[in-house]
Amino acid sequence: PRCPEGRNGGGAGTVRSLLGRTNKDWWPDVLPVEILHQHGVSPNPMGEDYDYAEAFKALDYAALKADLTALMTDSKPWWPADYGHYGPFMIRMAWHAAGTYRVTDGRGGSSSGQQRFEPLNSWPDNGNLDKARRLLWPIKQKYGKHISWADLFILAGNVAIESMGGPTFGFAGGRKDVFQSEGDTYWGAEEQWIGHAEHKTRIRPDEQLELEGPLAADSMGLIYVNPEGPGGNPDPLGSARDMRATFSRMAMNSEETVALTAGGHAFGKTHGAKPAENFGKEPAAESVHMQGLGWLTDSEEIGKGHITTSGIEGSWSNNPTKWTGDYFRLLFKYDYELTSSPAGAKQWTPVNPEWEDMAPDARDPSKRVPTIMTTADMALKLDPEFRAISERFRDDQSALDDAFARAWFKLTHRDMGPKVRYLGPEVPEETLIWQDPVPEGTAPGDDEIAAFAQKVLTSGLSVGQLVKTAWASASTYRKSDHRGGANGARIALAPQKSWAINEPAELASVLAKLNELRGSISLADAIVLAGSVAIEKAATDAGFDVKVPFTGGRGDATQDWTDVESFAWMEPQADGFRNYLRTRQTVKTEELLLDKASLLGLSAPEMTVLLGGLRVLGANHGDKPEGVLTERKGQLTNDFFVNLLDNETFWELVDPSSDEEFIGHDRGGKGEKWRATRTDLVFGSNSQLRATAEVYAENGNEEKFVRDFIKAWVKVMDADRFDVTAKPVTS
Ligand code: HEM
Repeated sequence: PRCPEGRNGGGAGTVRSLLGRTNKDWWPDVLPVEILHQHGVSPNPMGEDYDYAEAFKALDYAALKADLTALMTDSKPWWPADYGHYGPFMIRMAWHAAGTYRVTDGRGGSSSGQQRFEPLNSWPDNGNLDKARRLLWPIKQKYGKHISWADLFILAGNVAIESMGGPTFGFAGGRKDVFQSEGDTYWGAEEQWIGHAEHKTRIRPDEQLELEGPLAADSMGLIYVNPEGPGGNPDPLGSARDMRATFSRMAMNSEETVALTAGGHAFGKTHGAKPAENFGKEPAAESVHMQGLGWLTDSEEIGKGHITTSGIEGSWSNNPTKWTGDYFRLLFKYDYELTSSPAGAKQWTPVNPEWEDMAPDARDPSKRVPTIMTTADMALKLDPEFRAISERFRDDQSALDDAFARAWFKLTHRDMGPKVRYLGPEVPEETLIWQDPVPEGTAPGDDEIAAFAQKVLTSGLSVGQLVKTAWASASTYRKSDHRGGANGARIALAPQKSWAINEPAELASVLAKLNELRGSISLADAIVLAGSVAIEKAATDAGFDVKVPFTGGRGDATQDWTDVESFAWMEPQADGFRNYLRTRQTVKTEELLLDKASLLGLSAPEMTVLLGGLRVLGANHGDKPEGVLTERKGQLTNDFFVNLLDNETFWELVDPSSDEEFIGHDRGGKGEKWRATRTDLVFGSNSQLRATAEVYAENGNEEKFVRDFIKAWVKVMDADRFDVTAKPVTS
């Protein structure tokens, strides 16, 4: 059966592809520059030697902040600043850069500057942010390699808040730019932007919004919810429901959601001066002379402030370029009635506002215009849970200051991983639980390592058990937001110790044994080291004398400093490397393997060699027989590949009602030889994976297989060792 719903399910039983709708589907005419980057050619013009952390160290940070502050009020005629201040515009740009993050798979977010590329540069919700980025270009050009675009987007947001008197909690640099659209993020399969029609069908019987797979937005092309209300329907309570669903996928609770939305909307305005059809196409669809800009209209209209972005028109506060409590004051002081903007969008306007509670006109401060609320803002007043939080913030400005500053810092730094990756003079001292802190560890000495190895070999624990435990610990790492990994040994803590994939009872007994043997070695190091010892034994038994490199120094995290709720999102529903599938998903099972390999940062050869090795070592979930294509389990041999590619075997479904499990028969009629899953057989059926599998099955490559396996294994074990590789910069 396919998974009908749930965090990794969704959809009505259809198999979707891993990538859903891609850039090519949206904009078939975009020049396919990526063809130049096949066969390991990098699109990065900065080259291999460029070290961003080093370059950042030489940045004149104070001068950059001063230039950004000056930019805020340096209005340019080609895109004049509302109220003479670009601050609100820059905050929206930074929020949208960070706000695509989702805790489900850690993808999205601000950490690689993706807002510069399709699809994000052309999402309707990112309308006109192309101009915000262009306004920053002279500053980016001036500071060059010393500041990445990704860092600049977020720093501009911070400086904007500070320049309008708002509270910030700190800033960390370290977001390294990439130079192409990241093709591995699933943004959904909808064929229309902000597809309204199907919204209703996604409300579950428990009245919650069902979000498909890893997605964190209500519709394609939105950062979170539709500002006009669910599916365009001005229903504030429905909007509250959808905000809870979407913001929780960003690992934000209700208090953070209210603080962020109200804090953000203390500033700036919405734009809906004219119907949207009067404006140009999105950047990716525009003609070449537009130079990557989109949504344009003529300069006279721009000068008059006739801009349409969301379609909603007006500001929330009577002081839109100052951090004040006016947002909540007005929200609660007035009744709001449903009205329409000049662009036809649904919005809410205060009934009989007093003159001083009206907002200045964005272009002419001598004029006053009514303020507005979006349906999402009305949710902060009308939803009982949000209302209690809003009233508290209305009555206690310092509580809002603190909550907004902290939630903004979390929003914009959530995908940077451990604190050791943070750079610059404004890194906050305070450690926060969402940073998944791990105490510093001490690397064991050679003697300690040797003594421990000896004990492990005589402990009675099998190669499969030791390898599986190390894999379970390290393979939680994901390069998307740099969370997870073996450091911290969170595998011994809730929730990981109880995940079905980790076979809790067996895991507990292996960990108990390792705890007994490890002496003063940290548990995190002991788990990885025991895995290495097991692999060395398995290689020796297969006739290869090899060492598995080990870098000690991992620390052990505590339960108190483990955010159980946000780790729960990381529970694997499948792990092809352990031949585990909890429930059939809406993508093919082999795609889930690819996805996992991608999050681990593996290449196709690394994925291939690891999977083949893990099978023969006996690392399958529940020790099941599928894919164990060897007669000598526990030895590190290339048998998986040799037997998979054997022409004397043919494969059949075990049960015609499911295409997950297969039997390998001998052509000579000697009956069943092997069992395998889709995840195993894809290494024979997919042409690219088959080509790679052939290399590992060839005569003469037996030792290459062993060496490549160890290299890929160590890469996974050390994937989160930023404590060793990062260069903290405090200048
Ligand atoms: C602007 C919706 C959350 C900061 C806007 C606009 C809309 C909107 C429709 C107008 C865009 C335009 O027409 O120019 C929402 C919704 C949210 C949300 C539905 C969540 C439920 C946030 C958050 C922040 C934020 C979390 C930042 C912490 C801003 C700012 C502007 C803005 C500063 C003004 C931009 C300008 O003046 O050009 N928002 N927003 N918003 N938003 Fe939000």
